[in-house]
Amino acid sequence: MNQTLENILGRRSVRAFEDKPIPAEIIGQLISAGNAAPSGGNGQPWRFVVIKNKECREQFAKLALPLYKAWLEKSPASMKEMRKSIDSSTDDPVYYRAPAIVFVIGKGPTADMDCSLACENMMVAARSFEIGSCWVYFGQLIIEVPEIRQLLELAEGEKVYGPMVFGYPLGGFPKSPPKKEPIVTYF
Ligand SMILES: Cc1cc2nc3c(=O)[nH]c(=O)nc-3n(C[C@H](O)[C@H](O)[C@H](O)COP(=O)(O)O)c2cc1C
Repeated sequence: MNQTLENILGRRSVRAFEDKPIPAEIIGQLISAGNAAPSGGNGQPWRFVVIKNKECREQFAKLALPLYKAWLEKSPASMKEMRKSIDSSTDDPVYYRAPAIVFVIGKGPTADMDCSLACENMMVAARSFEIGSCWVYFGQLIIEVPEIRQLLELAEGEKVYGPMVFGYPLGGFPKSPPKKEPIVTYF
């Protein structure tokens, strides 16, 4: 199998990380991978906010936890069940104590597609450095908090994609969850 496919197929959502920082140069390469994603009209409507500071992450986690719990309370039983084992394995079920969190922020008619492509590029690139990642939707529940909006410098109309967490997987990459066979039609 070629290396690109290995990284695509080997990417896993990782939810437990070593307490080990990611070198700045590698973070730079992940950002470059995101920035190289295709975008409508080559508009590149994204910007990236990287949280590496531990105190900052802990503050985010503290703010996010009650919002996550409230969200979970209102969610269907299947979601509650799915989250049970994750929640019992960590005191940070939102950012998983990850050494890096990346918010991709974008605005414009194709931003939903463009920014999601940038996110996937970054997660696949991370895999090539043996770095695990996870898109954590719950991590954006805090963007309504005024201090966080200010910190992320969120302007009118800007949306947040991810955030994604990155770090060296504790105990290696987890096994893939079951994946359905693709539905394909050929003519
Ligand atoms: C849009 C989106 C939102 C997600 N939000 C979360 C999240 O809040 N917390 C989490 O632990 N995983 C989250 N995930 C990860 C998915 O649970 C994961 O991709 C899925 O279970 C498949 O596992 P895999 O990524 O290892 O293939 C999210 C993934 C996507 C694409």
